[in-house]
Amino acid sequence: MSLFAIGDLHLSILSETRRMRFLGKHYDLYKPMDVFDPVWKNHADRIERYWKRRIREDDVVVVTGDHSWGKNLDECRRDFAYIEALPGRKILLRGNHDMFWEVKHTEWLNREFADRLFFLQNNYAVYGDYALVGTKGYSYDPTDDSWEHFVKIRDRELGRLRVSFEKARLAGYRKYVMFLHYPPTSIGEEESCFTRLAREYGVKQVVYSHCHGEKRYYDSLHGTVDGISYLLVSSDFLCFKPKMILP
Ligand SMILES: [Fe+2]
Ligand SMILES: [Fe+2]
Repeated sequence: MSLFAIGDLHLSILSETRRMRFLGKHYDLYKPMDVFDPVWKNHADRIERYWKRRIREDDVVVVTGDHSWGKNLDECRRDFAYIEALPGRKILLRGNHDMFWEVKHTEWLNREFADRLFFLQNNYAVYGDYALVGTKGYSYDPTDDSWEHFVKIRDRELGRLRVSFEKARLAGYRKYVMFLHYPPTSIGEEESCFTRLAREYGVKQVVYSHCHGEKRYYDSLHGTVDGISYLLVSSDFLCFKPKMILP
């Protein structure tokens, strides 16, 4: 059994099956990722191929957000069916594009997808003697956000992450892997509220996603900083191959 992660699958299976050509009302779901960068050409097929080579049924894979271009659960169902059909136990984190996922409905999602997918938010998952904790997180982009808005969203996400840690701690866990969708620091920062929370709980690994394209891969931390290992697992950064986090 091993723990893996990969994020930003950015699926739009409806389009890939070409069904939507006949379903005009869903045509706006057609989002071929290679219009952004040719490295995404046929990315869903490549993810499936690498995933099936690397992952066994007893492995655990945390999928770190931006799962589907669908705007609601019905529009995402085929993308979820694709993820469900892949080997391993799948744990999903919420990304900024995951419109289907209202935070107040996380428990409902976990009932709806019981034994198929687990949605990680205000709760934790277990891998051996580790608790897997996580939330969407947030980072500051001055070209796109006001400082006040950033602080409001960041603090809400910090609160959710602390809930995740505390539930795991009260259940007796002392070893954690921390997952974020957004990078743990904003551009130019060497630490943040998120890295300080990781340190407070003795986290050894922080896994994050969201950064796409060579210009953005190094927006945040990589490698070991203050004894914590930071790993970027956005699918294009990983060349669409799930990354092993723990053996
Ligand atoms: Fe993304
Ligand atoms: Fe994202």
